Amino acid sequence: MNTNTKQKEWVFSDQRLQKLRQEYDSYTEEDFNVWKILFERQMPNLPKAASKAYLEGVEMVKFSADRIANFEELNQILAKTTGWEVQVVPGLIDDDLFFGLLNNRRFPSSTWLRKMEQLDYLEEPDMFHDAFAHMPLLTNQPYVDFLEKLSGIALKHIDNPWAIQLLSRIYWFTIEFGLIREDGELKIYGAGILSSAGETKFSLSNEPAHLEYDVRRILNQEYWKDRFQDKYFVIESYEQLYESLPEIEAVLGEMLVEGEK
Ligand SMILES: [Fe+2]
Repeated sequence: MNTNTKQKEWVFSDQRLQKLRQEYDSYTEEDFNVWKILFERQMPNLPKAASKAYLEGVEMVKFSADRIANFEELNQILAKTTGWEVQVVPGLIDDDLFFGLLNNRRFPSSTWLRKMEQLDYLEEPDMFHDAFAHMPLLTNQPYVDFLEKLSGIALKHIDNPWAIQLLSRIYWFTIEFGLIREDGELKIYGAGILSSAGETKFSLSNEPAHLEYDVRRILNQEYWKDRFQDKYFVIESYEQLYESLPEIEAVLGEMLVEGEK
């Protein structure tokens, strides 16, 4: 069935979506230690480096070094703020499920934590990334509205891998690696940066380029998964992201027509 004709809620009856929950009691002492080490290493950097929306979000979701994030508690808090929810997934999931969940205000997250010997490098995001870096911003309304609607655009093009690749660039340079200007200073809101102590420092330094948020340029910009970015795009507000959705759709449409010529 074509996704365009599906009900918005199709994702909840999709057989690939397993009914998983966070088994909080199964976390080991090593898991708690890994969370604590990563939290204590990164949190002190963030009052200066992270966006206000992230810092306010951390307060709201009550993350702390001594407790691995508890999704049940988190969902109760999110229900009262933006109405979003965390949906447990086994790890990386198909694009249609991923965008289908986001489009229904469910943030897909894994529940496993990296091992002590993997503190600095991971091939696949674990829950420290998914929870610590992403979830505080799920309390911010324009940010989550952008995420929901961007996913809606992706679902319209889900059968076109090129379109999904182009939209992934938007996701990458905003949700994962975005910077924002606040009171004249660069701050981080991208989760890929927020969960990396190294990239937190690097992204705000003078080494990489800091470019104004530019939909057309981002759609034409390839990205790297295996090293720090050499450029970051800077928004002025989360509303700017939301307001850029019609432009994303229009420029994407143009590029797809160009590609067909
Ligand atoms: Fe992420």
